[in-house]
Amino acid sequence: MAKAKVPRHDDRQMIRIFDTTLRDGEQAPGNSMNIGEKLRIARQLQKLNVDVIEAGFPIASDGDFEAVKLIAQTVKGPEIAGLCRSSEKDIDRAWEALKYAGEKGRIHTFIATSDIHMKYKLMMEPAKVLASAVKAVKRAAAYTPNVEFSCEDAVRTRLPFLAEVVEAVIAAGATTVNIPDTVGYTIPFEYFNIIKYLKDNVPNIDKAIISVHCHNDLGLSVANSIAAVQAGARQVECTINGIGERAGNCSLEEFVMILRTRRDILPFETKVVTEQLTPASRMLTNITGIGVQPNKSVVGANAFAHEAGIHQHGMLMEKSTYEIMTPESVGLLAGSLVLGKHSGRHALKKRLEELGHDLDEEKFNKAFERFKTLADLKKEVFDEDLDAIVSDEAREEDRFKLEHITVTCGSFAVATATVQMEINGVSVRTAELGDGPVDSAFKAIRKLTKSKAKLTQYNVGSITGGTDAQGEVTVRVSEGSQNVVGKGASTDIIVASAKAYIHALNRLSCKQKRLSDAV
Ligand code: KIV
Ligand code: ZN
Repeated sequence: MAKAKVPRHDDRQMIRIFDTTLRDGEQAPGNSMNIGEKLRIARQLQKLNVDVIEAGFPIASDGDFEAVKLIAQTVKGPEIAGLCRSSEKDIDRAWEALKYAGEKGRIHTFIATSDIHMKYKLMMEPAKVLASAVKAVKRAAAYTPNVEFSCEDAVRTRLPFLAEVVEAVIAAGATTVNIPDTVGYTIPFEYFNIIKYLKDNVPNIDKAIISVHCHNDLGLSVANSIAAVQAGARQVECTINGIGERAGNCSLEEFVMILRTRRDILPFETKVVTEQLTPASRMLTNITGIGVQPNKSVVGANAFAHEAGIHQHGMLMEKSTYEIMTPESVGLLAGSLVLGKHSGRHALKKRLEELGHDLDEEKFNKAFERFKTLADLKKEVFDEDLDAIVSDEAREEDRFKLEHITVTCGSFAVATATVQMEINGVSVRTAELGDGPVDSAFKAIRKLTKSKAKLTQYNVGSITGGTDAQGEVTVRVSEGSQNVVGKGASTDIIVASAKAYIHALNRLSCKQKRLSDAV
């Protein structure tokens, strides 16, 4: 079969990547991040070279506001967006945080346009919704020319009304119009036609960029985004690892790699540095404690593993038999064995940078100390071990910190844990008996932190192979309607368990604080 002609570079259309990991992604259960973690992700998004970072929803809480402001102040390159409803208060608050990004600040305002949302959620007539949308865009445009407007639940909106709203908000000053599939309901053919309808029926459509924002409830978010681009959309909203409300959003790594891999039939490109995809994915899972499934496209642990003999044979003869993209192209470094106890500071720094971790001097020094201790315990230190070290070191804003833990246990002993922690800057210590070492350690931690949270899940695994591997513990704790995950790693699984539990309690405390700050 003759191969399709690869479109020339000049013929290719640029697709803007709008990353919403820190907004829609962070809204998903268990994915909340503190301000330092958000800044780390934003810096990684800068390395990925995305066009827009949606940094948060400034009016949602003081924590969200501060995070958007800090990212607007410090992250250079991408535009920084903040979400707001179509209300004056929201828009003013968003700009207060975004103004630090200057002309790179983007106000993203939205209102629902589907009959079902207007009737049951907003309880507003369509004419009122249209007027609110126009008013909101005008207010935002008074602050900045960089205004995005989203018709929430666009896919279930009557097309003539959708076209009317889009035309009106463009006339009011929106430079990007977003057509979200808020509930993940559409299919590629239908979505293609919606975008095409707008292109054909909105007279001023060429004055704005059409954006798409797809949710994954039916597993079609990436396919729908591709169809939309084929119909004329030029911005795609997506998240690292596809995290987001409910089943998530369009996965950034999948969308970007589809365009890169199928250049033969898709005449589009993005500016994304694809070699930063794996570091971004790992950084996010290390921060949230929520891993991706092993068979996840592009960034799953098995995405480039070839188990079957027949596949391995083909790969040895010619890689392209079974490999449609290279592991290197997504930043999976060849050979994961890295360092040992004779490795020095330079080697560690270089590998950390390759893995996407830029640490300042102080954090690097601490990471180096931890690395040396680990390398004494373990012959070989792998990339995954380094990720775990960096995650631990990055938790400097934590309210609860583990200082020491000693546990006595065995078949003839009552398990006893002595735990020393720093809580709000003060060192405290206690001892507890328990039904086994983990139970006694967790009881002591609960006593020191005065936590009422319930432990709902406890899993232990190993980060790499070998009996000297670091144990990795994942716990889930809940209190009321809040549910968080914590992770900890150490060559001692009791220490790993204590770290995971404390990590979860810190996340819970951070989440509770945000809720109490929320307006
Ligand atoms: O899913 C959605 O409609 C959204 C909008 C606020 C863009 O997240
Ligand atoms: Zn969304």
